[in-house]
Amino acid sequence: MNYLVVSRKSSARLAVHASLTAMIGAAVLAPAACANSKARIEAFRTGQATTRATDDLRRGINFGDAMDAPNEGDWGHVISASDFRAVHEAGFDHVRVPMRFSNHTDSRPPYAIERRFMKRVDWVVDQALSNDLGVIIDVHHFQGMMQAPRAWEGHLISIWQQIATHYKGMPRAVVYEILNEPTDKLTAEIWNPILARTIAAVRAIDPDRTIIIEGAHWASAKDLRDTLAVPEGDPHLVGSFHMYAPMYFTHQGFGWMPPHFGTRGVTFPGPPPQPVQPTGAALAFPESRAFFDGYNREPAATNPGGPAAIVEQMEIAAAFAKRTGLRVYLGEFGAGINADLASRARWAHTARVEAEKRGFGWGYWDFSSNFAAYSSLGLVGSWIPEMKAALLD
Ligand code: BGC
Repeated sequence: MNYLVVSRKSSARLAVHASLTAMIGAAVLAPAACANSKARIEAFRTGQATTRATDDLRRGINFGDAMDAPNEGDWGHVISASDFRAVHEAGFDHVRVPMRFSNHTDSRPPYAIERRFMKRVDWVVDQALSNDLGVIIDVHHFQGMMQAPRAWEGHLISIWQQIATHYKGMPRAVVYEILNEPTDKLTAEIWNPILARTIAAVRAIDPDRTIIIEGAHWASAKDLRDTLAVPEGDPHLVGSFHMYAPMYFTHQGFGWMPPHFGTRGVTFPGPPPQPVQPTGAALAFPESRAFFDGYNREPAATNPGGPAAIVEQMEIAAAFAKRTGLRVYLGEFGAGINADLASRARWAHTARVEAEKRGFGWGYWDFSSNFAAYSSLGLVGSWIPEMKAALLD
C-alpha cells in the first residue's frame, strides 16, 4: 500500500441525507438520553448490566465519517441506535468507532474532554454493549499530532488518561485504539516513543484492557512489520494494519484523493475485459501509469489489480504476527462506492477470507459512507445484500 496522499479528507462532504441524519442526531443527543447513558455505564461497571460481547474482535465494521468529522453530522452521518441493532443482527461481533477527541477538549492543560462529547461516547459504548457488540474507541483524525507531534504529545496522553479513568472497570469488550494512522511529521522515530509513553500512562490507570496499536505512515502492513516498536511485556496489545490494495481500485474517483486516482471503471480483479483508459493525470504520474499498464495486461495470477495485491499485504502482516506473537487486527479495509458493486463485493470477500485464513480479526471500512456496506438513504436503512454476503457468508 503506497499512500502518497496528502490530505485524504478535505472539506466537509455533505451526503444527500445530511438534514435527515442531523434531525435524528438532535434527538439522539437529547440530554435525557445522555443522562441515561451515564447510569448505564455505571451499571456495566458494577455488573448490574451485562453483555455477551468480548474483546475477540473477529468480525466488525467501522462507523466511519460520523464522530470522526469535526462535529458529528458534518459529513452527513450521525450514528443511531438502529445502526447498532443492524450490525448485531447481521452477525458482526464489534464496531470500531473513529472519534475526533482532539476537537472536543479544552485547548489548555489538562485538556479536559467536553462533557457533551464524553456523554456521546458513553452513549456509543452503552449501545454497543447492550447489543452484545465489542466497541473500539479509536482516537481518529488527530491533526495536531500529525503536524507537530512533540507539541501535541501531552494532549494525546491527557486524552487517554481521561478515557482510561472514565472506562476503567468496564467489561473487556471496551477496547482502546491509541491513534489512527500516524503519518506526516509523526514518523516512526517520533511515534514509537510517544506510543510507549501513552500506553504507560493508560496502564497506570487501566492495566489490562486490550489496546490496539499501529505503525507510523498510514498504518500499512509494512509499517506494522518494519517500523512499529512494540512495548515489551504487555500481553494485552494487538497490532493493527489497514489494507486498501490496490488503491487505484478502492479509492478510484474520490475528489479528496490526488488527481492520479481519478480513473474510474477499475474493476476487481484485473485484468479487465476491455483495457481501461487511465486519465491524463494517472498517465502523468509514474506509479499510477505502471499500475494501469500491469492491470490492463498482466494475467490474473500476477495482476497488480488482483488478489495477489491483497495477499501480499496479508503476508506482510502475518510476518509481524509470527515475529512478535501478537494478535493482528485488520482495522480498516474497504472498497469505495465509485467502483461497481460486483467488484466491490469480490474485493471485500477476498480480503476478509485472506484475513480470516491468517487468524486476523477485521473491521470493514465503512458502515454507510464512501465505502458503504449498508445504505442509510431513506427512512429505513438496509444492508447492501452483496456486501453483507461478501463479509459474512
Ligand atoms: C480515514 C477516512 C478514509 C478511509 C479510507 C480512514 O482512515 O479516516 O477518511 O475515508 O481511511 O481512505
